[in-house]
This record gives sequence, structure tokens and C-alpha cells, in this order.
Amino acid sequence: MSDDAMKQYYARRAGEYEGIYHKPERQHDLRLLESRIAEIFAGRIVLEIACGTGYWTQFASRNALSITATDINPEVIAIAKTKTYDVAPQFLIADAYTPQDITGNFDALLSAFWWSHVPKQQLAEFFGNLHKRLPPGSLIVFMDNRNVEGSSTPLAFTDESGNTFQDRPLKDGTTHRVLKNFPDSEEITNALTRYATDIQVTELEYYWLATCLTK
Ligand SMILES: C[S@@+](CC[C@H](N)C(=O)[O-])C[C@H]1O[C@@H](n2cnc3c(N)ncnc32)[C@H](O)[C@@H]1O
Repeated sequence: MSDDAMKQYYARRAGEYEGIYHKPERQHDLRLLESRIAEIFAGRIVLEIACGTGYWTQFASRNALSITATDINPEVIAIAKTKTYDVAPQFLIADAYTPQDITGNFDALLSAFWWSHVPKQQLAEFFGNLHKRLPPGSLIVFMDNRNVEGSSTPLAFTDESGNTFQDRPLKDGTTHRVLKNFPDSEEITNALTRYATDIQVTELEYYWLATCLTK
């Protein structure tokens, strides 16, 4: 899936996106992540990339000093703007691959459910750009899905680089082949070691959360 196809898929999915947060079996994990995200950004100046409909912005903003929430799609930002926040976010349209184009000084970054959509062969460039964008010692938080049979959409295809794809239906009757990778703790740690220290990966049943400090 090209980046443009990814962008269009999420634009079409905007109105039904948060259904993913109503899966009954995931509620326990979600409450744990929500409280962790609310506390971890306390006092921080946060940049959020690929913020979508603002689901995690709600929790990240709870104790933050400020938060700038960005996404490439105006359709999801429009939904995010209808939510209530403890600290009012600044919403911007921005590409997660070019954080250097986002104005502001930040000491923390949130990337929720975006790592899985970055092709493995582009991860180094993606992390390199984030690393360059933040001063040393900045907090970066990644979280994403684990692949759980019976809960996750089954994998449909694996490409020559090891990227995995799902065929995802939308309510408008269309189906989209979407890149969705599921790195394990070792892969996550290895990918971040060049750019960060204090790497901690927590695996829940349905999700993983990684925190680190930029070098
Ligand atoms: C899986 S959703 C995650 C949304 C939100 N972070 C969450 O966890 O609920 C992926 C988001 O990435 C956005 N997106 C797609 N391509 C992007 C890009 N190149 N740069 C920034 N955001 C992008 C989509 O619009 C969508 O909102």
C-alpha cells in the first residue's frame, strides 16, 4: 500500500474509526493504557503524530503542559476537534514522515498506532527524522497492536521485506489491503537503540507500549 492509499483509507474510515476502541475483549488493556498515557506526559510539551480522531489526545493532554496534535487527514482532525480536552490541543495537518515541517518546541512525542503502518524499510528514516526533530532527553511513546488470533484482522499477505498486510472492509462496501506490522519487544528495542536510551517495552494482551528518551 502506498502512503497515498494509506491516507485515503483513513480518510474514508474516519467516521467509523473509533469502533476499534469498543471491542469488549480489549477494554481492560485500554483502561491501563489510558491511565499510563495520562500520567506519562505530565508537565511535557507534547507533539502527537498521526493523532486521528483524538482518542489518545484526550489522555495525553490530561496532565501535559501543552499538546500539538497532527494528522495528514482533515477528516479525522475535524472529529478530534469535537472532543473535550483538559488542555486544549493545537491541531495541525502534518505528515508523520516530515516532522521537521511542524512548527514548535517539544520535549515529548506520542505515536499511537502508527509504527505498525510504517514499512520496515522506512523505519530507520522515520525514527531518524523524529530524533532530529526533538532535543536530547525527550520522551517518545509508541504504542500499537499485538496480533491476537480471534481479535485482530487476519494477515492476508507478507511482502519480500517482511511487511504484513490485512484486507480491511469498510462500511461503504470497499475493502482495503492495509500495511500492518506487529513488531515484538526485541524488534522494537533493536529499532530504537540507535536513537534512544531507557527503552522500555510493555506487552499487554492486545497492545504494546514502548517508552524511551532521545539520545
Ligand atoms: C491507525 S490510525 C491512528 C489514529 C490515532 N493515533 C489512534 O491511535 O487512534 C492512523 C492515522 O494515521 C493517519 N495518517 C495516515 N498517513 C499519515 C501520514 N503520512 N502522516 C500523518 N498521519 C497519517 C491517518 O489519517 C490516521 O488518522
